[in-house]
Amino acid sequence: MNEVSCALDAHALLGEGPLWDGTEQVLYWIDIKRREIHRFDPVSGTDEKWSAPEDVGSLVVHEQGGLIVAMTSGFYSFDLSSGRAQLIVNPEPDLPDNRFNDGKPDRRGRFWAGSMHNPETEPTGSLYRLDPDLSCHRMIDGGIAISNSLCWSPDNRVMYHSCSLHRTVWAWDFDIDSGTISNRRELIEFAANDGGPDGATVDAEGYLWVAVWGGWRIDRYKPDGDLDLSVEMPVECPTCPAFGGPQLDKLYVTSASNMLNEPEKQPQAGGIFVLEPGVRGIPETRFRG
Ligand code: BGC
Ligand code: CA
Repeated sequence: MNEVSCALDAHALLGEGPLWDGTEQVLYWIDIKRREIHRFDPVSGTDEKWSAPEDVGSLVVHEQGGLIVAMTSGFYSFDLSSGRAQLIVNPEPDLPDNRFNDGKPDRRGRFWAGSMHNPETEPTGSLYRLDPDLSCHRMIDGGIAISNSLCWSPDNRVMYHSCSLHRTVWAWDFDIDSGTISNRRELIEFAANDGGPDGATVDAEGYLWVAVWGGWRIDRYKPDGDLDLSVEMPVECPTCPAFGGPQLDKLYVTSASNMLNEPEKQPQAGGIFVLEPGVRGIPETRFRG
């Protein structure tokens, strides 16, 4: 394990949703609260950006070109050449205080994304699955305040998901053929003064990397939920890890600069950080639509 360095001094308000696209060799990421979509090329150091019309919680790359993004009012397709967003479906027209948050593609190219209560107090969030035929399915019906940590085990038998306000990461049995989940169990619980689970990813050994919001660190957990190691971060609120680079051996970590307790101690808050953790990631799948 080598040092954590700042790959992009982005000063994001709420940097999130890092996703490495193996075809383009770039890191997509978002700034939820600045309503921006970014594409970072670590080789050239170029970071392109697009404005989104609403808070943008997560994205996937569309196999046919462009992106699918989950914003405040639902799933949208996003055309990178025109910068235009077009509504696919709003599954929560009755919940104006909700917005979409963390989301990821499963390995059949479905887009999973959770909603959350924007004021971060009520458990009005649900979890959705957008299929390649653009049908939208509610997979968890309410009870989630801040949906986070979506990712899957290398054998596709387990899906991980968390609620940051509940400070809990759950494991679900996952059936990749039908795209269904069952048998939820608590995997990791964070103590009250120990930060909360934010974004997560799984490495090729099946261990889970969790960004600890408010914890100044990233944790690596064994598949049974036992802590394996922690990596200290130079920022209080790392938000989400994603493996990237040509060999998928670099771990990129987004971060936030809003809502900090000790802003004076972290001049690079909101940056994207990178480390070489000594283990590789698993390629992400594009949305098959
Ligand atoms: C959300 C933030 C929230 C944080 C807390 C993020 O995924 O987007 O709004 O404060 O999680 O864990
Ligand atoms: Ca998150």
